Amino acid sequence: MTVALEHSTGLAGELAARVSSATVIRRKEPLARHTTLRVGGPADVYIEPANEADLAAVLKLCGVRGLQFFILGRGSNLIVRDGGFRGVVICLSAPEFSRVEIEAPRLRAGAGAKSKELAVAAKRAGLSGVEFLEGIPGSIGGALRMNAGAMGGETFNVVESVRVMDFAGNIRELTPAEMSVSYRSCATLKNHVALGVVFRCAPASREEIEARMKSFSEKRWSSQPAAPSAGCMFKNPPAIPAGRLIDELGLKGAKIGGARVSLEHGNFLVNDGGATAKDVLDLIELLRAKAKAERGIELSPEVEILGED
Ligand code: EPU
Repeated sequence: MTVALEHSTGLAGELAARVSSATVIRRKEPLARHTTLRVGGPADVYIEPANEADLAAVLKLCGVRGLQFFILGRGSNLIVRDGGFRGVVICLSAPEFSRVEIEAPRLRAGAGAKSKELAVAAKRAGLSGVEFLEGIPGSIGGALRMNAGAMGGETFNVVESVRVMDFAGNIRELTPAEMSVSYRSCATLKNHVALGVVFRCAPASREEIEARMKSFSEKRWSSQPAAPSAGCMFKNPPAIPAGRLIDELGLKGAKIGGARVSLEHGNFLVNDGGATAKDVLDLIELLRAKAKAERGIELSPEVEILGED
């Protein structure tokens, strides 16, 4: 414990020496504050780079020192274990990374912009195609990394190009054809950091866009929980949607500690208050074991699981 703290004190100092004073650096940052499920232990170092040069400096130092790092969005698809993360958590929430610019019919957004804000900006500008992002409680960087989708839409369907930084700090602009993209994943963003994106939209009336967003929002509020969660916990297996499977297995409402399978939707695990990451992970294992034993179906988590027990 003491070793980890001393290590991170020195590391935070070393990082501070390499970046501008506008970059935020914190030691022992509780990651429960940064995940929508509200669980998770501390990161040795938490850093919000002020700009691309500072981000490159952080990545380079991590490379030279062989330090683990993790790019955090808004923590909506993430479970951090209770022991936290031994390394550097990098969050692109600074203003420099959070801009949304309209260049009709294109939209340019930084990785740190909120998906919902982008959807609202597009609506105001009369640009259609990103309405489904209205209900995704994450950042644009997270939506790209996860190829987030909802209501029949998927992030990469509307992407024209993505600005990425490799872990040596080099920047490139990639088209979707140059990236490896699949259902709920973009493998290219496992070894690159998304800095921003250009979406190609279609002009439409504000009323039409508004109506579509309203129907998405109504569907979401009537079928998904409002309590803290990490969104859908499992990818949908080919045979049956995970939520329906868990429902059919009679597992809605199942509880371990403060973690519960939502009564509204079987593929959401909610924090009833006071849940630990272990409660959530144990509940995941219970659901996977039942799905396997009773229906022969492998449930594979959609969420990212980070850190140590
Ligand atoms: N269903 C049940 N019981 C339940 C939940 C669902 O019977 O408890 C049934 C529904 O009636 C429906 C089917 O299962 O017939 C599918 O349910 P739903 O329409 O809610 O969609 P989903 O496949 O469970 C997907 C995405 C969601 C997205 C919704 C809405 C995945 C894993 N999930 O859910 O995305 O919001 O569609 O478009 O692909 C996420 O990825 O985090 C997420 C929440």
